[in-house]
Amino acid sequence: MCGIIGYTGRKKAAPIILDGLKRLEYRGYDSAGIALLTRREDLGLRREDYGFQVVKQKGRLAALEENPKTAKLEGFTGIGHTRWATHGEPSDINSHPHLGGSNRVAIVHNGIIENYKQLKAKLESKGARFVSQTDSEVIAQLAEHYYSGDLIDALIKTFNALQGSFALGVMCVDNPDIIIAVRKDNPLIIGVSEHGNFIASDVPAVLNHTNKVYYMEDGEIAVINKDEVTFINSDKEVITKPQTTVTWGVDDAEKGGYPHFMLKEITEQPKVLNDTVNITFNEGENKKTIDKIDFLMFNRIVITACGSAYNAGLCGRYVFEKLCRRSVEVELASEFRYKDPIIDEKTLVILVSQSGETADTIAAMREAKARGAATLGIVNVIGSTIAKESALCLFTAAGPEIAVATTKAFSAQLILLYALALKAAANMGRLTEGALLKLEDEIRALPAKAAEILENVDVLQKYSSNCIGYKSVFFIGRNIDYAIAAEGSLKLKEISYIHSEAYAGGELKHGTISLIEDNTLVVTISNNPALHGKIMSNAEQVISRGANVLLLGNCGGARFEDCGNEKITFIKLPCCHELFSPSLSAIALQLFAYYIAANKGLDVDKPRNLAKSVTVE
Ligand code: G6P
Repeated sequence: MCGIIGYTGRKKAAPIILDGLKRLEYRGYDSAGIALLTRREDLGLRREDYGFQVVKQKGRLAALEENPKTAKLEGFTGIGHTRWATHGEPSDINSHPHLGGSNRVAIVHNGIIENYKQLKAKLESKGARFVSQTDSEVIAQLAEHYYSGDLIDALIKTFNALQGSFALGVMCVDNPDIIIAVRKDNPLIIGVSEHGNFIASDVPAVLNHTNKVYYMEDGEIAVINKDEVTFINSDKEVITKPQTTVTWGVDDAEKGGYPHFMLKEITEQPKVLNDTVNITFNEGENKKTIDKIDFLMFNRIVITACGSAYNAGLCGRYVFEKLCRRSVEVELASEFRYKDPIIDEKTLVILVSQSGETADTIAAMREAKARGAATLGIVNVIGSTIAKESALCLFTAAGPEIAVATTKAFSAQLILLYALALKAAANMGRLTEGALLKLEDEIRALPAKAAEILENVDVLQKYSSNCIGYKSVFFIGRNIDYAIAAEGSLKLKEISYIHSEAYAGGELKHGTISLIEDNTLVVTISNNPALHGKIMSNAEQVISRGANVLLLGNCGGARFEDCGNEKITFIKLPCCHELFSPSLSAIALQLFAYYIAANKGLDVDKPRNLAKSVTVE
């Protein structure tokens, strides 16, 4: 939901800011913009002729890069923005940076200002003239309204007046070497390098220059110039913060020869699974954290998340319930806090989030904490809000995930949910030591099986390439296969724009089967030998109404002899325990969606209207 970057240093700012924006484009790509300042003494200008150089443009970052005005940008200090529109359509004028009425202050903003209408009316009554339809412009106008020579004072007053969420980069013509950053409920990091300093929404934006970063906290103000970074609080007292060295490098955030980040990230999954297993089941931080959890303290377990992370939770529920014989609830985080959730100090609320910054998941976490529940994050981004605020946190070792549609982080989330379910079952006396070790071995075997799917990718690639003409695709499964069907359906629709729905195999006939006709594809997932006959009956029901079936599963060849039917294509997945089969089905379903979208020539990594990190409600 919008990416912001700022740089001040000894190098030319424009190329650095554009490169950073490229790495933040996953956060939004409706429009992009940049504002630079050069010292007026360097330009030999009079005060009245001096100001920001601003270029902003609707569309992808490439449009901004190609704008001839961008090539003319000069200066060593600047801010940039890539937008996911909330207030006001994507347009040049609504793009960031926004300037105050007398062009003295420029801002880039990620978040939503909830009281912008009231603030705007107040400022207009005092003569301010707004040019955009955005909520963000009010920040620039307000900062100028309060400005009387001390930018920090003006910004403190501005922040105090704002309601909502914001990560901000601010510049002022009177301080051309300084960028000020502040956050409330939206992520912001400060990067320090030998040639200058940065503000950014996320680490990949600065990795080309430094791996030394500070993670900002709500209410902190960072003042950066080319040589130093100072953190202060709202009383202007200096704060000391720990610096973090990021362990992954710029290569991790590059395509590395793949046509899309999504394919690269799908292909990385054997390693990601292996790394996550290592830090969770061998010696590692996750293991230490899991060892601390006493599941006997809880009489209720709730998993809450959004998007694919929610689907991981759906899979996790089956594993918990099967192994622990305890019911587990899975709630959409966007609904959780509005349903007056029945939770108390005997509830464990598990928050699953790749980014750790999804607004609804953060709100669910805070709601759970306010009601006294224990909170446990499953997060990919170290230093993110959920990582910091949840009582305990487990980390997925997925590394940076750039494609908007998650793949490897989802797979790593599954591993952590399996691990928690195993620990809970052992804690509750439901698993003998021997049974526990056997299940752990099944999980340890998953990376090699994931690699096997990827080694045989040609079959899926060929099949999927012939599916681009489908208008509608249904995904069916039973039990845990139904949970992973939901993820398969989401993956397909979000990147290929083909309508898709996931149904429990037995439920299709209660309405949805009326949509099945010639040339509907039904992806049927079957990993549970006990339910194979049942799901095959459901497949037969759709075939007899004209559908084609792609059967994905691992139950063993003999059971699939019925695949002689020419309407069925069977792609066999490696054998594994049914409870952990989502890890393998997921990879096949991701590849299926990927090859369809890629063959349609779509922008797979940046599907329309979506953003990777959804920091607004
Ligand atoms: C967006 C992404 C999804 C992701 C969801 C939740 O919709 O496109 O891939 O599953 O947000 O994000 P989170 O960072 O909380 O896992």
